[in-house]
Amino acid sequence: MIHAPVMLDEVCTALDLKAGARVVDCTFGAGGYSRALLGREDISLLALDRDPTVRPHAEALAAEFGDRFAFTQTPFSGLEAAIAGQGWDGVEGVVLDIGVSSMQIDNADRGFSFMRDGPLDMRMGDTGPTAADAVNHLSAQALSAIFRTFGEERGARRAAAAIVNARAEAPLQTTGALADLMVQVLGGGWQKIHPATRVFQALRIYINDELGELHRALLAAERMLVPAGRLVVVAFHSLEDRIVKQFFRVRSESPSQGSRHVPVGEAIVFTPTFSMLGRKAQKPGAEEVSANPRARSARLRAGIRQNAAPMAAPPLIFRDIPDLDTLEALI
Ligand SMILES: C[S@@+](CC[C@H](N)C(=O)[O-])C[C@H]1O[C@@H](n2cnc3c(N)ncnc32)[C@H](O)[C@@H]1O
Repeated sequence: MIHAPVMLDEVCTALDLKAGARVVDCTFGAGGYSRALLGREDISLLALDRDPTVRPHAEALAAEFGDRFAFTQTPFSGLEAAIAGQGWDGVEGVVLDIGVSSMQIDNADRGFSFMRDGPLDMRMGDTGPTAADAVNHLSAQALSAIFRTFGEERGARRAAAAIVNARAEAPLQTTGALADLMVQVLGGGWQKIHPATRVFQALRIYINDELGELHRALLAAERMLVPAGRLVVVAFHSLEDRIVKQFFRVRSESPSQGSRHVPVGEAIVFTPTFSMLGRKAQKPGAEEVSANPRARSARLRAGIRQNAAPMAAPPLIFRDIPDLDTLEALI
C-alpha cells in the first residue's frame, strides 16, 4: 500500500511557506508532503530520509521539480549537516512526520510487523544492529528496560526472561518466532491488542534510536530556523508526542507566565525561542480517520521561531538501556 500523507492540509497551513522559502522535509517517505509543498509555492525543498528504498520517489520529484528539490539519505538528526550541504545558512520551515511508513510496515522483509513473518530486522535505514541482534545479545535486564521504557509493557521482565531462555536453544531470527513466543508469555485472557505489539514497538524504537533522533532533530531545527520560521511535527505515539510537547513548552513559556523552569529565587531571564501555534495538539479530522485509520493517533504540534538564541539541552538518557554502539560491540 502506498503511504497516505497524514494531516497534509494541516501541515501545509502550519508551515505557511511563502515564495522563495527554504524548507526541510525530514521524513520524506513516499514524498506526500514534499510534493504538496512544492506544488503550492515556489519554494526550495530539501528532503531527508534514512531509508534508501525511498529513492525512486525522490527521483520522481527531482524529475518534476528540477533544482527546487534535493534529497539526502541521512537520519534526520543530521539536519544541520544536510542543510549546510545545500549551501543554506538557515531555513524558513522544518517538518517531521515521525514513525514508520506504510511501505516499511507492509514489507515483510523489513521485519517491522508481527503479522507478517520475515527476518527480525526493523531498521529504517541500512546500517547498524538489527532487532535480532538486540534480542540475541542484550542482557535480560537491558531487554526488560527496553520493553518497559519504549513499549510501556507491563510484562517486560517476563518477556525478557522468556527471550533469554529461548535463545539458549536457538537464536531468534524471525518476526514469527518472536511473535509466537510473546503470545505464549504475554497472551492469555482477552486483550485489545496482539500480545507482541508493545515488545515490537519497543524494539523498533530502540533499534532506530527514535526518541534520541527526535530530540536531536528538534534541537537542530531550533538552531537552523530563521526568525519567523516554522517547525511542524506530526507524532504518532505518546512517547514521541511527549518529547515534542515538552520541547515546545520549555521554549515558549516566559517567566512572567509563571514558568516552572525558573528556579525560585534566581534571576534567570529566559527569552522564548518559539511561540506556539495553538495551545493544544491538533488531531486529524473524522473524515481523514475514516479514510485512513492509520491517521487516528496522529498529533500535530507547531511553533514559530522567535528572535532568541537557541537553548542548550542535555542529551536524552534512558536508564539501564545500552546505546547502539554498546550493542554493536556485543555482536
Ligand atoms: C511516516 S513516514 C513519512 C511519510 C511522508 N510524510 C509522506 O507524505 O510520504 C516516515 C518516514 O520517515 C523516515 N524516518 C523515520 N525516522 C527517521 C529518522 N530518524 N531519520 C530519517 N528518516 C526517518 C522513515 O524512513 C519513513 O520513510
